[in-house]
Amino acid sequence: MSEVMPAQSGSVAAWTERYGHALMDTFGPPQRVLVRGEGPYVWDADGKRYLDLLGGIAVNALGHAHPTLTAAIAAQLGTLGHVSNFFASPTQVALAETLLRLADAPAGSRVFLANSGTEANEAALKLTRRHSAGARPRLIAMEHAFHGRTMGALSLTHKAAYREPFEPLPPGVEFVPYGDAAALEAAMGPDVAAVFVEPIQGEAGVQIPPPGYLAAVRELTARHGALLVLDEVQSGMGRTGRWFAYQHEHIGGGIIPDVVTVAKGLGGGFPVGALIAYGEHAAGLLGRGQHGTTFGGNPVASAAALATIGVIERDGLLAHVSQLGAWWRASLAGLHHPLVAAVRGEGLLIAVELASAVAPRVAELALEAGFVVNPCTPTTIRLAPPYVLTQGQAQTFVDFVAGLPVEVTA
Ligand SMILES: Cc1ncc(COP(=O)(O)O)c(C=O)c1O
Repeated sequence: MSEVMPAQSGSVAAWTERYGHALMDTFGPPQRVLVRGEGPYVWDADGKRYLDLLGGIAVNALGHAHPTLTAAIAAQLGTLGHVSNFFASPTQVALAETLLRLADAPAGSRVFLANSGTEANEAALKLTRRHSAGARPRLIAMEHAFHGRTMGALSLTHKAAYREPFEPLPPGVEFVPYGDAAALEAAMGPDVAAVFVEPIQGEAGVQIPPPGYLAAVRELTARHGALLVLDEVQSGMGRTGRWFAYQHEHIGGGIIPDVVTVAKGLGGGFPVGALIAYGEHAAGLLGRGQHGTTFGGNPVASAAALATIGVIERDGLLAHVSQLGAWWRASLAGLHHPLVAAVRGEGLLIAVELASAVAPRVAELALEAGFVVNPCTPTTIRLAPPYVLTQGQAQTFVDFVAGLPVEVTA
């Protein structure tokens, strides 16, 4: 008989062994087996504590086991856990209304609720196909973009190693250099349905485009009648100190996009994604019967998202994210450690760019020292911690970097 609640006992080694016999090797061997979390900390099966500076890859906005989030999920699950989308639920409606408010979305805007970032982007992709159906076969995405791994989202994702084993992918997508408005202008035409762009490229190593870039993309898409789709799956929901990264003047320049997708931090760790279509023009494209989902807009996922957003607002976490992020970046850069070539980011989406391709080794050293970080490129350590991280906790990582040897070998 299977266990209703699997025993939490067992060492890291024992669970890793069982993992290897039961799960596909898709993610490679797990770095550790984690059994518990509280605030910005997680514990492994051997009882060792780590400061989680990755937050489940930019997900655990409120940290682990936040009492308000836990209570909201439990209360909703104990009241009404799931209904089909033949029916509505109050949390679903309230979440959609809240997202429209946070997005300052104009009249006529609408939300589609999904379960993940990839699914939100799939919905966006389908929506763009309905735009001047047939007459606009081309889609433009950015070099080094990451939009997800399902076939549609993968067609918008740039990395050859992710794409090539699964070709042929859905056709029509072309890539232009990120941050280069002139390259986009040269590629635009009346046959382009949409331009997909991350306001900050996360997986590519936290790349922020030059000021004025998104405004230029908005102007070009409007001029050519194409939709502007912003993928805020990683950069959205307060991660950068604003609800959406494009809302920073120096990133978005005051633009209004046509579509924004979010997920990751939206549910504070509970799987939920969303597409926001701005204005009647975009919101009308994915009409009745043209898309669907069993779980999307689930009452529990919606309650999790509402609680996460509610705590961020109640506790003033957007301002904290901005202040702590600025202090942390300055502190890390101020070390002038020879291994650190640059520190960049916005809010608590931060890249420590190393002087050589030793990020995987530095991440290992960090783990040994009790920090979860992510080598998202060979030269880049990515930090995307919970918004509840304190300056004292962030300082411990500054001390770790200060203590790194001048030369780390891969
Ligand atoms: C910008 C962006 N879009 C989409 C995705 C895919 O989201 P998910 O893993 O929730 O499907 C990610 C995940 O890293 C992402 O960073």
